[in-house]
Amino acid sequence: MQKQLVKTGDGSHSFYLPEMDEHYHSKHGSIAESQHIFIQSALLYKAKETEQLKVFEVGMGTGLNVYLTALTAQKNKLKIEMHSIEAYPIKIEEAKKLNYAEILEESASIFYQIHESSWEELHKINNYFHLLKINDQLENFNLKESYDLIYFDAFAPEKQEELWSPEIFKKLYKALNANGILVTYCVKGIIRRRLQENGFKIEKLKGPVGGKREMLRAIKV
Ligand SMILES: C[S@@+](CC[C@H](N)C(=O)[O-])C[C@H]1O[C@@H](n2cnc3c(N)ncnc32)[C@H](O)[C@@H]1O
Repeated sequence: MQKQLVKTGDGSHSFYLPEMDEHYHSKHGSIAESQHIFIQSALLYKAKETEQLKVFEVGMGTGLNVYLTALTAQKNKLKIEMHSIEAYPIKIEEAKKLNYAEILEESASIFYQIHESSWEELHKINNYFHLLKINDQLENFNLKESYDLIYFDAFAPEKQEELWSPEIFKKLYKALNANGILVTYCVKGIIRRRLQENGFKIEKLKGPVGGKREMLRAIKV
């Protein structure tokens, strides 16, 4: 699918898919969104309990969430193993156009390492962060391991309903440890109900500044 490189509200890049009329991130700010939803409201929240965490991501996309998680692990001395699934990986030439390292004033080599590392193998990215990239469709993937956190970052339910199904949420619930957390930017009533019907306790939190007003944190109780 053809991708267009776009700048979002905080100056950071994202991709836009004209065929789907869908962005990889909030138009109001890719970095602002990732930092707020996945890093602040999930990773750093859970890190108050434990310094060793296993994270599963739905939709690796540009690798922004992976990159921010690797940087946060190093800064906060958190031992993190992250598994990220992606059905349609971006090309390395596309990754090289993204300005995340520049905006964050961080090392671009970590970002490239994330993209250049082979799929289906666990890689050490820094002393605190290990990454396994899985090239598969979530619907077909058999989740054998268990996780403390799930970054649920699929395209919107209006665009890809099959990824927001009760079966998927059941599978993700099973893959979480007790008190494990799933976070998502989507707060639609039907999605909240599906999560609740599969055993999650839902919290609605404030969304990223300038973007969506709310987000969801779902806890396995
Ligand atoms: C909202 S974007 C993810 C953004 C990403 N987390 C980031 O940091 O850039 C959704 C991603 O899900 C991927 N995707 C689409 N269908 C999928 C499927 N069936 N299984 C796994 N990933 C899928 C898309 O290719 C896209 O990269």
